[in-house]
Amino acid sequence: MAKVHLRKVTLDNFRECISLEVEESQKELVASNVKSLAEAYVNPNLFPLSIYDATVVGYEQAHLPMVGFTMYEITAGVGFILRLMIDHKFQRKGYGRAAMLEVIRRLKLYPEVELIATSYQRGNETASKLYRNLGFVDWDIEWAKAHATDMFLKLNF
Ligand SMILES: CC(C)(COP(=O)(O)OP(=O)(O)OC[C@H]1O[C@@H](n2cnc3c(N)ncnc32)[C@H](O)[C@@H]1OP(=O)(O)O)[C@@H](O)C(=O)NCCC(=O)NCCS
Repeated sequence: MAKVHLRKVTLDNFRECISLEVEESQKELVASNVKSLAEAYVNPNLFPLSIYDATVVGYEQAHLPMVGFTMYEITAGVGFILRLMIDHKFQRKGYGRAAMLEVIRRLKLYPEVELIATSYQRGNETASKLYRNLGFVDWDIEWAKAHATDMFLKLNF
């Protein structure tokens, strides 16, 4: 089973991070990493992280390529997983699922996180299946139910 290591985006690895790409057909489904990093620069509630295979643990300079990117937000008692992307070269190897498990583990460590949530664009069946298999269910919060384009899910824990 794939396992991941999450690492801060720094001067050492940000160029690699912004060079990652999803499949052409997936480009409308997630913001570019450069946009996510710009958002994180101005919003201290956002935590952007690069995704590596877990064998990179212990190496100060990663000896393997970055496989993806994720970003969560901590606000109003919610740990919200805002972004998840795996570079097209590394998809379908279990990294997306492993990254979600690792982000959930991290979010559970924050005392202020009382609920873990995420969203995906309606019609993104891969994301829907991935999140629901991990235990996410529809989030019945008023503003989310009314959203035109996105589905909001929460994880009970
Ligand atoms: C969604 C995404 C992160 C999944 O990453 P991944 O590393 O390929 O996913 P995994 O290998 O861990 O597979 C997770 C599940 O999705 C399924 N899956 C992955 N890619 C799929 C595809 N293209 N079509 C159908 N199913 C797919 C796998 O079969 C697996 O199902 P299982 O748990 O029942 O075995 C990746 O496809 C991606 O970056 N997509 C574009 C951005 C996006 O949609 N992000 C999520 C919304 S913000």
